[in-house]
Amino acid sequence: MSDYEWFKKAVYDLTKIDLNAYKEKQMKRRIDTLIGKYEAKGYDEFAGMLKKDREVLNTFVNYLTINVSEFFRNPDQWRLMDQQMVPELMGKFGKNLKIWSAACSTGDEPYTIVMLLSKHVPLNQINILATDLDTVAIAKAKLGVYNEKEISGVPSEFKSKYFTKTPDGMFAVSNDIKSRVTFKQADLLRDPYPKNYHLIVCRNVLIYFTEEAKDITFRKYYEALAPGGILFIGATEQIINYKDIGFERKNSFYYERPSK
Ligand SMILES: C[S@@+](CC[C@H](N)C(=O)[O-])C[C@H]1O[C@@H](n2cnc3c(N)ncnc32)[C@H](O)[C@@H]1O
Repeated sequence: MSDYEWFKKAVYDLTKIDLNAYKEKQMKRRIDTLIGKYEAKGYDEFAGMLKKDREVLNTFVNYLTINVSEFFRNPDQWRLMDQQMVPELMGKFGKNLKIWSAACSTGDEPYTIVMLLSKHVPLNQINILATDLDTVAIAKAKLGVYNEKEISGVPSEFKSKYFTKTPDGMFAVSNDIKSRVTFKQADLLRDPYPKNYHLIVCRNVLIYFTEEAKDITFRKYYEALAPGGILFIGATEQIINYKDIGFERKNSFYYERPSK
């Protein structure tokens, strides 16, 4: 077994994160950078540090998971969601949509969904499930405090309505928005998927998965959707074998599980 193979096993034993499901070159490059930062001599010594020091382990998981996110990331996608997807889904399923933001990172994405939906229904009718692997990202999401760059894409009417400036120049999202989202820690590779969702939003995470892990995940999303439900993926992503899975392609980034 190579050093890296052994390291992947050690990481799995410690964290239950399966590095085999992520693109190896990219992942190895990130891990090697972190090993350099901690001045460890190699995978073996670094695994020892991860075992001994909870702080190093948390930093490792947080670094590995790449939490980059921002509100209204890729505005064209959100415009289409506002003008096409949401009216279409409400026409089919009514106003109380079941929505899952999978790999929600620091909360920017599920809070974006709540703001956008607030144009269509009263806030108290909105309930979003938001999950991520990384507990540090979820803690930040629950706190709901962001810097200027992270909220730079928020339309001005929402900025004034739903954010307050903190004394240290950050922006806190209002409780009215926060209370509409339920955050949970969950691993897309291991944990069971919920059922009967009308909209699943999963953007900018499967790009890190191997083709095999990606295919398994798309199939699980298909099963997690109600017939007529929609899977919304990242602007640079696509599902090549969508027909094979059973999806209907509505647009390069949104796919429907056809109604029976
Ligand atoms: C680049 S962020 C994307 C955030 C958001 N969806 C967006 O597009 O702005 C990727 C997120 O995927 C999460 N992630 C990585 N592997 C995961 C897994 N196996 N299960 C659940 N979440 C995972 C990371 O923790 C990270 O928060």
